[in-house]
Amino acid sequence: MDPGFGVYVHWPFCKAKCPYCDFNSHVRHAPPDEARFLAAFRAEIGHMRERTGQRRTQSVFFGGGTPSLMAPATVEGILTAIDAAWPLDARAEVTLEANPTSVEAGRFRGYRAAGINRVSLGVQALDDSSLKALGRMHTAAEALQAVAIARSAFERSSFDLIYARPDQKPEDWARELERAIAEGCEHLSLYQLTIEDGTPFAALHRAGKLKTPDPDVARALWDVTQETTAAAGLPAYEISNHARCGAESRHNLLYWRYGEYAGIGPGAHGRLDTPEGRRATSTERGPEQWLGRVEADGHGLVVDEGLSRPEQADEYLIMGLRLAEGIDRHRFAALSGRDFDAIRVAALIGEGMLEERADGRLRVTPQGFPVLDAIVADLAA
Ligand SMILES: C[S@@+](CC[C@H](N)C(=O)[O-])C[C@H]1O[C@@H](n2cnc3c(N)ncnc32)[C@H](O)[C@@H]1O
Ligand code: SF4
Repeated sequence: MDPGFGVYVHWPFCKAKCPYCDFNSHVRHAPPDEARFLAAFRAEIGHMRERTGQRRTQSVFFGGGTPSLMAPATVEGILTAIDAAWPLDARAEVTLEANPTSVEAGRFRGYRAAGINRVSLGVQALDDSSLKALGRMHTAAEALQAVAIARSAFERSSFDLIYARPDQKPEDWARELERAIAEGCEHLSLYQLTIEDGTPFAALHRAGKLKTPDPDVARALWDVTQETTAAAGLPAYEISNHARCGAESRHNLLYWRYGEYAGIGPGAHGRLDTPEGRRATSTERGPEQWLGRVEADGHGLVVDEGLSRPEQADEYLIMGLRLAEGIDRHRFAALSGRDFDAIRVAALIGEGMLEERADGRLRVTPQGFPVLDAIVADLAA
């Protein structure tokens, strides 16, 4: 199965910084000069096109930061440049991440006209006290209104929720999740709250002022998530992503199936297949620094490294084992030049952590997902 080619575009600005977030997102007093950024996006797309040669684009993802702060005309200009470089497939999935405030929902029709056909909304929680504790700038009612507007404006939509929040009880989370599912979404991203170094949440956590659930409660929250979504016909197709059959995010599948993607904009990562082989790329993270580099050199690349085939095999393993469909052993063997250690595989299967599908693919079991990192480390060794 050819995972195809996609383009990730990073918009690095937010209205305010959420206290749990360590994404490459920045708050500025004055609005950024979108015309200048658009010119830089165009230049960097042109540079990456020279690296890849001809491609057909299966998916585009505008992530952030908060891409829903961009004017629809900026989004349209970037999509026009992508289409000129790597023509968009007629059925391409074109997603934009949006914060669910009323101001942003007001721009949804403009994004639709610009070529966006899927939105991913950062709802995060469905009760106002949790939203306040997460430092969000919207209420639950406002977020649900944005969900309704998104469903009328776009063919496809998804929303994100964060769980394993301080003091969250499994029975409350089950009810919240049922309410979310009742909104009729085809796709949900459900992330366990992680405490990221350098964030205000990390400082509060260290000071004992923010308590995340104990491991047994975290496990119960995880189990509730799997049971509730599966019962509603939205099983996990990836460790944190749930969808109705056929509604999986094609762009995210492209990452996890270890396809090829160009990363455009400040701090964007890419994996490019060039005449010299597969390359890992990333660009300057600072928005203004990135702009300066692109204006001087035509691109903001600060990392552009060849990946050996064993390194590619490891990346394929790390990405692919997140998926319910698992990995193709033949593809792993072709990349790494070796098969898995049969004794380790048998042991993991015996412990109920791993299973071999009828078609020979290896996948992590629902029981294994909470300890995925250890399984990957074991197989990669
Ligand atoms: C790039 S962010 C968000 C998009 C948008 N700016 C928003 O906040 O609505 C993607 C998602 O990552 C999740 N996320 C960010 N930081 C997290 C953390 N520390 N723990 C768990 N999930 C997190 C949130 O659910 C968020 O919607
Ligand atoms: S969670 Fe979203 S809105 Fe909040 S700071 Fe991170 S990227 Fe920005």
